[in-house]
Amino acid sequence: MKLPLLPPSKNLKGKKIFLRVDWNVPLKGAFAADESLKITRSVQTVKDLAARGAIVLVATHLGRPKKREAEYSTENLLKRLPAGSGIKPIFLGYALDEKAGLEKAVARLKRAVAGDVFLLENVRFYPGEEKNDAKLAKAYADLSDFYMNDAFASSHRMHSSIVAIAKQLPAYAGPTLVQEVGALDKLLGKPKHPYIALIGGAKLTTKLPVIEALLKTADKVMIGGAMAHPFFQAKKLEIGKSYTEKEGLPAAQKMMKNPKIVLPIDVVVARKVAPGAKASACLVGKVKKTEAIGDIGPQTMQAWSAEIKKAKTIVWNGPLGVADIPTFSHGSMVIARAMAIRSKGEAYGVVGGGDTLPVVMGSGMDEWFDHISTGGGAMLEFIVKKGKLPGLNALIKK
Ligand code: 3PG
Repeated sequence: MKLPLLPPSKNLKGKKIFLRVDWNVPLKGAFAADESLKITRSVQTVKDLAARGAIVLVATHLGRPKKREAEYSTENLLKRLPAGSGIKPIFLGYALDEKAGLEKAVARLKRAVAGDVFLLENVRFYPGEEKNDAKLAKAYADLSDFYMNDAFASSHRMHSSIVAIAKQLPAYAGPTLVQEVGALDKLLGKPKHPYIALIGGAKLTTKLPVIEALLKTADKVMIGGAMAHPFFQAKKLEIGKSYTEKEGLPAAQKMMKNPKIVLPIDVVVARKVAPGAKASACLVGKVKKTEAIGDIGPQTMQAWSAEIKKAKTIVWNGPLGVADIPTFSHGSMVIARAMAIRSKGEAYGVVGGGDTLPVVMGSGMDEWFDHISTGGGAMLEFIVKKGKLPGLNALIKK
């Protein structure tokens, strides 16, 4: 996919760039792995543009506010930028969808100097944002000379600051967006075989489209986490007290006939999947009524690691057990390490998804992967829609 790039020779001195990033991170507690990646990767873009003399207007959404709510103001993000990030944005909180607010913002920017970095208010405070409103995009454009999308994790959204704005200004793909797209594109072109995919998480229905897409391109699709439970039920196997998504059962019944679908052979069970639980392993089908499944079992870990060792392309999204509880995190950790060892050389290994990244980072082997995607929904949609995300189309089809 050929995205428009900002020419390195372009003189940016004093030029205003509307830089859409995805700094949609929680405002409390420590950052999870994917959240710190979201920030650190695009902070570098901000710094590079500022160093070239641009006036950088950083725009992001934060949460899913229904209206202007102080707790979702991007001003709160200023305290969350990592120490040592090297940027100190000036908060420009005017309501850009109101004439007076826009005028004030324009007036303030007249006093800006090369290298200044501003943080705009949460774009989701504007009712037009999620409607991809052209008038709102025009207001964003009134502030800026150029547009840059560096927000891969939001590029599956048909929103004003992602799509409509690209029609209003010379529009470019930012470096982290280019990196994400380049890395994921390799899964769409001619991936090397054996190609295996590992899909985990709790809900089968949310990942059905990606599983169906992967069944067309990959050789094997391993299903872990609670989304394997509807498959066990479809095979009339006991799952005891395990969580299961009822709505997933018809899909599991249909898909289990596909020879590419690989289910766990054994599982880790406990009376309760909770911290401190006493866990044991048993074959699938031997789960007792009083037990709940918390992870893939050791035989599965071994079998899936052996598949990973033979694979030339590996993609993974979604934990294979309740990975935030140490007792039930081993399956995901074993797979993370097996994948890391095989990636960057023997195989092309890509991992993504908000719940998967803490395991990958926790393995201490994150640098061994070919690519770690910051996109949760965006990564899955990229695979399903063969790269045709609204935010990318908007840049290409100008
Ligand atoms: C994400 O966290 O996946 C992105 O920031 C997109 O957020 P959204 O699902 O609220 O659009």
